Amino acid sequence: MPESEMLLQVRGVSNTYITQVHGVWGGKNIKPVLDRVDLDMRHGEIFGLVGESGCGKTTLGRSILGLIDYEGDIIIDGLRQDKKQRREMARKVQAVFQDPSGSLNPAKRIGWLMEEPLRVHRIGTKQERLKKVDEALRLVGLDPSYKARRVQELSGGQKQRVCIGCALMLEPKLIIADEAISSLDVSVGAQILNLFQDLHRRLGLALVFISHNLKVVYYLCDRIAVMYRGQIVELGDAEAIYAAPAHPYTRLLLDAAPGIDIRASFFTSSYQEIPDEPEETASGCRFAGRCTRQTRACRDTPQELISIAPPREAPHLVRCCLKEF
Ligand SMILES: Nc1ncnc2c1ncn2[C@@H]1O[C@H](COP(=O)(O)OP(=O)(O)OP(=O)(O)O)[C@@H](O)[C@H]1O
Ligand SMILES: [Mg+2]
Repeated sequence: MPESEMLLQVRGVSNTYITQVHGVWGGKNIKPVLDRVDLDMRHGEIFGLVGESGCGKTTLGRSILGLIDYEGDIIIDGLRQDKKQRREMARKVQAVFQDPSGSLNPAKRIGWLMEEPLRVHRIGTKQERLKKVDEALRLVGLDPSYKARRVQELSGGQKQRVCIGCALMLEPKLIIADEAISSLDVSVGAQILNLFQDLHRRLGLALVFISHNLKVVYYLCDRIAVMYRGQIVELGDAEAIYAAPAHPYTRLLLDAAPGIDIRASFFTSSYQEIPDEPEETASGCRFAGRCTRQTRACRDTPQELISIAPPREAPHLVRCCLKEF
């Protein structure tokens, strides 16, 4: 991908969480999460992140947002993610989370909440700011009169529209949508999905769409990355991966998703949790313990992401030594 087309570059990003073991005196436990994650995104691209619960999707999203510490590099629109650059970064990347109620201060009116990012960044006069709030409300399909309403007067879908409106106020290039439709009713979720598509088309907005719903990801995303225990195990065009998943874990994930058939209903396609294998594979493939085709080499050899796409075709990367693609 030429440098000028790139919006997001994630380079060798790793991080750990420190957890307390057995109460105050129990000492610390270091839990590795992301393991040298690499990812590139074009301007205006919709990128899906999938993988079972706990694999590190939110952690990667929060790293891109600069909300947690990590090793490695994250560059957004030419700017390195750095705590000192947080203000500039907020104008490049914003987030929409699962629970709209938790994201909005119930004591404030919608107009105040949406104006807040502009106030914090000292953008425009009061009048200019209110005009921008009106524009953002229209963009998310709400009437400007919603400015005067309070959070509790809104439905779940309207609250999520306000959260998306707040995220748009600083005109970011990228939005991280982390399970942004998961808490909504099916029909409301579908409307919010359409809104994301509409914003992508009208504003050229890029999206990292994190979801358990494989059908929705297929419908919405240009490319996807499948994560397993903190690593990307497969990455490529959504179409190509859904048509012919190459990594045994991706196959398992798609097999475990009821109704992934394109004709089936969108919202029945979340994957079921696959029972976890407690024992970590020492140095080799992290999926080896659950893979029906594992060999000795799988357990012993660290796996790298390798390209399996023919030359001149869109990259399709897989982390598997079986090479049965
Ligand atoms: N603040 C934290 N402190 C300690 N461990 C954490 C913390 N946040 C997440 N983890 C752990 O890090 C791992 C990755 O969590 P993360 O939330 O990124 O997963 P996820 O893929 O988003 O899962 P889900 O699909 O359930 O949202 C999990 O094992 C989780 O328990
Ligand atoms: Mg998550």
